[in-house]
Amino acid sequence: MAPSSGTAIVDVTNYDLKQAPWHCDQLERGKVLFFSHVPFEFPDADREFLLSQKQTGSRFHKNISYRPAKDILKGVDDNSPDRERMNAIMRNFSVAVTRFIAQFLSPYAGKMKLDFASFRPLEEQGRDLPLHKRNDLLHVDAFPTRPTHGARILRVFANINPSVGRVWNVGEPFHDFLPKLMKVKRIGPSTSGVGRALAHMASKIGLPVPDRSPYDEFMLYLHDWLKENSDFQKNAPKQELVFPPGSAWMVYTDGVPHAAMSGQYALEQTFIVPREALVTPQVAPCQVLEDGNYVPRVAV
Ligand SMILES: [Fe+2]
Repeated sequence: MAPSSGTAIVDVTNYDLKQAPWHCDQLERGKVLFFSHVPFEFPDADREFLLSQKQTGSRFHKNISYRPAKDILKGVDDNSPDRERMNAIMRNFSVAVTRFIAQFLSPYAGKMKLDFASFRPLEEQGRDLPLHKRNDLLHVDAFPTRPTHGARILRVFANINPSVGRVWNVGEPFHDFLPKLMKVKRIGPSTSGVGRALAHMASKIGLPVPDRSPYDEFMLYLHDWLKENSDFQKNAPKQELVFPPGSAWMVYTDGVPHAAMSGQYALEQTFIVPREALVTPQVAPCQVLEDGNYVPRVAV
């Protein structure tokens, strides 16, 4: 396990809002911004309610996702007595994170799109999942049903576990690892043109298939390829990060290879940041892929 050059984490617990452009720059360059405590309002009562699922874990079987735009909760039975409370907790969490981010990352304010939020009540260690769904293998995020067309995926996490840290491995940022990877092995979706044509046709006849750009196809391919590649998993430079109980962090998960090794009870909110909002666009995955001629250049 080779150590990565430089540390992946930046402690911003004592942040200054005047530094907002620097926060954006550090994130875009592949740093994980860390807070020793949750930097937005999150009531103890809400945390205790979520943790109470420990005793009655069978009520929630999997990750719970929340769609802020429609105020829809998924992963909780319709007839569960806890459904309404869970919905309210996720709604309030989403609002509080969004309000905080609009200040902490003010260059993005008014430009970024609020995506889904989630509550992750399951222990990450030892989960029995198919290879492409495993969280404990290094990967970059790409959403099969929500193509970004080059916009970036920013995620804010909180470890609400009262006693146990959440352990991640993180790798080198995209602009470092991808060119190296392509030099050794030119990877990429070989049927992207066909896949795109089919998706476009399907969307025309009303099937719910997202019209992915070549960038989205590349990122989905890369997500799977990284998880499948034992050499990358074993030998790519990586660093272990432990997020203590009560801490929070944010990272561009489309650019920083990450793996959740252990931990239980995390909250997460995703934002989609368009290319034109970025403060350091030259290191964005889409730009790196365009510069290497791995995907066609598009006008921003
Ligand atoms: Fe991920």
